[in-house]
Amino acid sequence: MAGRFITLEGGEGSGKSTQVRRLAAALQAKGMSILTTREPGGSPGAEEIRTLLVNGAPGRWDALTETLLVYAARADHVGRTIGPALLAETWVICDRFTDSTYAYQGAGRGLARETIRRIDSVVLDDFKPDFTLMLDIDVETGLKRAGARGGAESRFENFDRDFHERLRQAFIEIAKRHPDRCALIDAAQGEDDVAAAIWAAVARRFGL
Ligand code: TMP
Repeated sequence: MAGRFITLEGGEGSGKSTQVRRLAAALQAKGMSILTTREPGGSPGAEEIRTLLVNGAPGRWDALTETLLVYAARADHVGRTIGPALLAETWVICDRFTDSTYAYQGAGRGLARETIRRIDSVVLDDFKPDFTLMLDIDVETGLKRAGARGGAESRFENFDRDFHERLRQAFIEIAKRHPDRCALIDAAQGEDDVAAAIWAAVARRFGL
């Protein structure tokens, strides 16, 4: 069996990175071979593109240019990291993927969903996650947590409050539109409770 591709999504400060590590450990304990990775990034070239995206002033890129940078990074990441791992029967857990583009560049920055869909179709063909965990947290708590992490890579945190409210609604809407692929997780709970909710959803989805 080829590996499975699981993504974690959510706004700023939703605790994805911690939960990626915890889910990886839980799956490893079941004997799976696991690769954890992130977007933008996850391959040497994509990590270089990441520095262009996550640093600097919010208005540094227009929405279309930003989306093309995201997809340049994604093409490299899928081609060189995710694809080979899945072929080697490794399960891949990725901190953010395409849903983040619909939320950040679409709902957040205002690029039409259809434009993103067309770019996605050219770059990724029909490649999408097997399962997506949407970590939902209210904007104020999320930004407070993200701010506590310090100043580097904070370009998107510096967009205004409305931007972050639109992201939150976009992620919730995606989860509702794709109930077979997505599970909405309350990320305002304590870390252990979030990990338990994620494990329950993953175990159900993959029959573990
Ligand atoms: P991170 O803070 O979760 O590591 O993500 C880096 C930033 O990149 C985050 O602020 C969201 C942003 N991003 C997009 O704007 N579009 C995308 O498609 C992805 C994957 C991330």
